[in-house]
Amino acid sequence: MTCKHRFIIVLSVVVAALLPVFCSYAGQDLERLDPWAFESPKRPGAVFPHDDHMMFLDDDCSICHHVYENGELVPGDSSEDLYCIDCHSLKPVPDNPMPLEAAYHNLCRDCHFDRGTGPVLCGECHVKE
Ligand code: HEC
Ligand code: HEC
Ligand code: HEC
Ligand code: HEC
Repeated sequence: MTCKHRFIIVLSVVVAALLPVFCSYAGQDLERLDPWAFESPKRPGAVFPHDDHMMFLDDDCSICHHVYENGELVPGDSSEDLYCIDCHSLKPVPDNPMPLEAAYHNLCRDCHFDRGTGPVLCGECHVKE
């Protein structure tokens, strides 16, 4: 084995070991949402294949991770470094009139409804674990 070959093998091992770190940073291992932000959740966390949604939606992060300025949507700008609750509080406030539960339901359910695909019934998203 030449030195060059050995270098390539070591490099591949390092890259393979780091891959899960990059992937989890991209949110890709998310399969079900954890309702931690709600004070006393009544339902099991919603099933949400995050990775598949990136594919369904042509990698447009800003559809869900949006940014608003003075109440106006900033097209193309995205906020995946923030949680929904960072902007949508549990109770409506003047700064953001849409509370967290409505924000999730309006985003998820409305898109499925409008496109005629994806779950729209309670038990289809809040699937028992
Ligand atoms: C398209 C998927 C979807 C559908 C359909 C849906 N939900 Fe949700 N719901 C969510 C998501 C996402 C959240 C926020 C994160 C979480 O709790 O998993 C949420 C949060 C909630 C919460 C607040 C958290 C908690 O557990 O207390 C309640 C209550 C709730 N949903 C009830 C319902 C009821 C009742 C229905 C049917 C009328 C319903 N949901 C339909 C996706 C959905
Ligand atoms: C269909 C909606 C949707 C799309 C499209 C989407 N995300 Fe997300 N993403 C979510 C939701 C919902 C969460 C959970 C947010 C929360 O907990 O407040 C999330 C969480 C994340 C997280 C945190 C992961 C974790 O495990 O905590 C990252 C990072 C992320 N998304 C990146 C991205 C990137 C990058 C893109 C575009 C390539 C993208 N998302 C596209 C809805 C989406
Ligand atoms: C950087 C702050 C911020 C983040 C992060 C954020 N939002 Fe919003 N969102 C807003 C603001 C501001 C509005 C406008 C509210 C209004 O004026 O009615 C809005 C509006 C909405 C609306 C109504 C308009 C529309 O696009 O349908 C939904 C639904 C929504 N947000 C869901 C979510 C969900 C779910 C998440 C997490 C994936 C999220 N938002 C993350 C600030 C944010
Ligand atoms: C902008 C559109 C859009 C948004 C927002 C969206 N989805 Fe979806 N979702 C889709 C589409 C499109 C499909 C179906 C794709 C297919 O099967 O062809 C889907 C499918 C699903 C499925 C079934 C997955 C499967 O493999 O059969 C679940 C569960 C789901 N969505 C949950 C959610 C939850 C929870 C949210 C909010 C956090 C959400 N979705 C937000 C477009 C969206």
